[in-house]
Amino acid sequence: MTAIISVRDLRKTFRVLVRRPGLGGSIANLFAPHYRSVQAVEGVSFSLQAGELVGYLGPNGAGKSTTIKVLTGLLVPTGGEVRVDGQVPWEKRERYVKGIGVVFGNRPTLWWDLPVIDSLELLQPMYDIPAERFRYNLVEFKRMLELDEFINTPVRSLSLGQRMRADLCAALLHEPKLLFLDEPTIGLDVVAKEQIRRFVLDINHRRGVTVLLTTHDLTDVERLCERVMILDHGKLLYDGTLAALNGRFESAWTLKVDFEEEYPDVSVAGLPAPQRVGRQALYLFNHRELNTAELVQQLMARFQVVDLEVRRPPLEETIRRIYAEQLLTK
Ligand SMILES: Nc1ncnc2c1ncn2[C@@H]1O[C@H](COP(=O)(O)OP(=O)(O)OP(=O)(O)O)[C@@H](O)[C@H]1O
Ligand SMILES: [Mg+2]
Repeated sequence: MTAIISVRDLRKTFRVLVRRPGLGGSIANLFAPHYRSVQAVEGVSFSLQAGELVGYLGPNGAGKSTTIKVLTGLLVPTGGEVRVDGQVPWEKRERYVKGIGVVFGNRPTLWWDLPVIDSLELLQPMYDIPAERFRYNLVEFKRMLELDEFINTPVRSLSLGQRMRADLCAALLHEPKLLFLDEPTIGLDVVAKEQIRRFVLDINHRRGVTVLLTTHDLTDVERLCERVMILDHGKLLYDGTLAALNGRFESAWTLKVDFEEEYPDVSVAGLPAPQRVGRQALYLFNHRELNTAELVQQLMARFQVVDLEVRRPPLEETIRRIYAEQLLTK
């Protein structure tokens, strides 16, 4: 299988104007602009196969949006090679964008003053969408994204969640093979987030659209992505399945137990002494070495147990550890 997106050693450095030095230097120095370089992306390589839905994660300033901007042809990189569906995004951009869809959660794509429907209609000639396909897609997306309730409202009057739904529709009417989503659920309530997730899953499953998604919402990741890439300071720290990522920290499962009474010793052989508060105890265990059922059985054989709660480390915690440990890919 050949990759639909291939990125090799991608680099992007920005030059930012910094304040001039204060008085005291030479006159020439006083007026010479001073620049500082910011290395937003520092040698990132990855590839995506057609039909994948991949999460691109990382803290603020990691370089995620910069990568997406390069992949969508909005920025020319400082170095590296990028091929998306056989094309170089920033060359012949007009042709390139006809094959991709893009949504930036923090930047509206539709015309601000036009009613949603007029804005969407304008896309048909712009992208040369065959009339029949356009109608078909519009009907389907209107239904899936429930656009009818605000289809005649000017874009500027939409709520954030409504605008995001309209933007998603706009990004897909021309039936792109690829969809780039940069924080599509930012600032949305849980219901709107869930609607967007369902839509993204649906177009990925039913239409086979390849999706690259950035988000800070880890529920998005858990609901949508089998594979994740984690970026920090412009470098990839992890590229692999979400399951493997969760598996890295199997030693950090916890079992919280409420006992009938305050037993003097509730320790379990082979496990560190549990933390205790009154009749409650919290055990830390390695899920791979000791399965939950075995641990529970051991405790129930010895004590009267009233309640139990098992937790694997939340994804948030796992990702925080990845940042902390700077685990390298492979
Ligand atoms: N046009 C620009 N000029 C100068 N510096 C920039 C520019 N765009 C981005 N940067 C810098 O590049 C770095 C990466 O920014 P980027 O927007 O890619 O991060 P991000 O991972 O998308 O973060 P966030 O999660 O906050 O959206 C940051 O240090 C940012 O300040
Ligand atoms: Mg960003």
